[in-house]
Amino acid sequence: MALADNTTTSTAAPARRIADLPGPRGLPLLGNALQIERDRLHQQVEAWAREYGEAYRFRITSREFVVMSNPETLAAILRARPDTFERTSRLNQTAQALGFGGLFSSNGDTWRRQRPMVLSGLDPTHIKAFFPTLQKVTDRFARRWQRAAQAGTAIDLQADLMRYTVDVTAGLAFGTDINTIESDQEVIQTHLDKILPALFKRLLAPVQYWHYVKLPADRALDRHLQALREAVDGFIGAARQRLAEQPALREHPSNLIEAMVAAREREGSAVTDGDVSGNVLTMLLAGEDTTANTLAWMIWLLHRHPEAARRATEEVRGLLGSAGQPLHHEQLRELDFVEACAHETMRLKPVAPLNIQQVVRDTEAGGVALPAGTMVMCLMRPAAVDEKHFPDAQAFKPERWLAGPSATSSKRVAMPFGAGPRICPGRYLALAEMKMVIAMLLAHFDIAAVDTPDGGEARERLALTMSPVDLRLRLKPRGG
Ligand code: HEM
Repeated sequence: MALADNTTTSTAAPARRIADLPGPRGLPLLGNALQIERDRLHQQVEAWAREYGEAYRFRITSREFVVMSNPETLAAILRARPDTFERTSRLNQTAQALGFGGLFSSNGDTWRRQRPMVLSGLDPTHIKAFFPTLQKVTDRFARRWQRAAQAGTAIDLQADLMRYTVDVTAGLAFGTDINTIESDQEVIQTHLDKILPALFKRLLAPVQYWHYVKLPADRALDRHLQALREAVDGFIGAARQRLAEQPALREHPSNLIEAMVAAREREGSAVTDGDVSGNVLTMLLAGEDTTANTLAWMIWLLHRHPEAARRATEEVRGLLGSAGQPLHHEQLRELDFVEACAHETMRLKPVAPLNIQQVVRDTEAGGVALPAGTMVMCLMRPAAVDEKHFPDAQAFKPERWLAGPSATSSKRVAMPFGAGPRICPGRYLALAEMKMVIAMLLAHFDIAAVDTPDGGEARERLALTMSPVDLRLRLKPRGG
């Protein structure tokens, strides 16, 4: 086989063939399908990595996955995009069919065309300019939690955090104040939170039955998608109207949706209506679960580690005085310990523990020859919880992320936002949101409890992103 490109650290030994890799024994036809519970897939493939090593294989019916977990190999794979690796064709087709064929799922020229637009809409300059709106949304969020604290009611933590993240994303990317935080009506999240689990289910399904027959769950999904299409059309319509009323915005769009609509309307543009609506939905989906679930994990971990919580609280209250949240953008940069808590949370509880790539042209990675078309499942957590890279690896120790050479090298091992040309463009926004929410929480309240359904450890559930199962937060007013 021709090796068009050697993606990883060179090894003297000849590359192994996929057929020679170890892996769990499967059944004829089904492969390992029966050994996998969908919502615990990440834990199963991590357990197999402990048994079979940094490169192994498994099969779901006829689809074979090569699983890799060496951090240098993973970084090399993620950097070798878009020419040698890309997102899988199954993801691309399934996301297109569900109406969000945007930046996350696209490949090739479509991805190249969209990436700069999305990057500039989410860059640090835009986030700085957006800060007053971020404060407004955080203020509403504080009032919502004050009402819950005064009434002594338990907060559905993830559902509330998703109200926050969707309001923020819509404000930044679409210039729209959807204010789901203060809404008692049916909110867009009711529809959004059905999409990623449905996508995940379809990505793993052994048979793509929905092309031939629709079950009640598929018909319900169609209804959610229809409601979302209407919301997305509304955002796009409002942006079109702003461009018509203020033509100067075509050259200097104030947000992502205006940039995309202006590009679509340019003569001879390669940007399609589908690109615009696909990316609007992509922003909502990519920005909602990831940040909300990371925040939920962070609040859970802080509650379980009183010493870290005390230090974070001291930092926040020392910096803000009697203010309920950061008053200017620069203050976000001073929340070093809170930021360290975010990195430590993402190390132990990465909301994207799996990143599946498909080989574009014959190559080699981690000493394994990979023909074009091979699916490579990158496991992002094993190295991040390995003593080799992080002493006392299972412990929650945010201080390990405070400045110093080891913090920099740690960032190369734990890659919660991915790496290379397709690294998450929303990472600056995500960190800003996380610092705002944690600062607001610790400035206003003391955490009384974070309850799990069975009173034990928070359980992990994978539905494309990895979330804690059903956390309930109880707050007391500060010093109350
Ligand atoms: C804690 C929060 C977040 C985490 C952990 C996270 C994680 C990730 C990861 C792991 C990827 C794949 C990167 C790769 O393949 O190398 C990704 C891609 C992406 N993320 Fe995020 N993300 C977060 C928040 C956000 C936010 C707030 C937005 C936007 C509002 C966003 C938008 C995207 C988009 C559009 C992509 C696709 C990029 C591409 O394929 O070129 N993410 N994210």
